[in-house]
Amino acid sequence: MDAKTPSESKTVQTDLVLPNETNPLNNMFGGELLARMDRVASITARRHSRRIVVTASVNHVAFNKAIPLGSVVTVEATISRAFKTSMEVIIDVWVEDRESGLRSKANDAIYTFVAVDRTGTPVPIPEIKPETEQEKERYAAALRRKQLSLVLAGKMKAQDATELKALFE
Ligand SMILES: CC(C)(COP(=O)(O)OP(=O)(O)OC[C@H]1O[C@@H](n2cnc3c(N)ncnc32)[C@H](O)[C@@H]1OP(=O)(O)O)[C@@H](O)C(=O)NCCC(=O)NCCS
Repeated sequence: MDAKTPSESKTVQTDLVLPNETNPLNNMFGGELLARMDRVASITARRHSRRIVVTASVNHVAFNKAIPLGSVVTVEATISRAFKTSMEVIIDVWVEDRESGLRSKANDAIYTFVAVDRTGTPVPIPEIKPETEQEKERYAAALRRKQLSLVLAGKMKAQDATELKALFE
């Protein structure tokens, strides 16, 4: 399998916040944003692996800024690193200022997807070749995040998380 670059699978969705997607403060409902992020990230994971993909974990979500009704919201998802059968997808959420058109970062999240066959068994995926400085930084940090996620899920012993432990030494 040939390695691919993050730009080959990057997925971008721009959409409005409508009244039925808001909370009583007239800001976007958190669950609506989670669903948009999951959908866009899963397309990215499918584009990279060209397989069926399932969400294995949501490792990080930060709702840094409220997103008001009527906002134009852009969700961008990129693969930071592909492992054997799993891949980490980083999602950046941007909101466009109505008057200036300038975009500001509202939220981000990190999801892990696993490529599976029709029986749900994990299958190997292509490697990823980071190109830009940001892609290289995200690639390097992804292994530590995978180890943390596995330790928290009880699927890896803390003493085996070598790269994660090195952060604290
Ligand atoms: C995700 C799933 C396929 C993993 O199955 P599994 O039996 O744990 O398989 P494995 O142990 O072989 O793990 C497969 C890969 O997932 C990774 N993985 C599993 N759990 C993980 C977690 N919590 N965090 C990060 N990675 C995880 C493993 O490290 C492995 O990665 P690698 O092959 O790239 O090294 C399985 O748990 C599943 O089908 N879950 C339901 C998915 C789903 O329905 N999602 C929608 C939620 S509504």
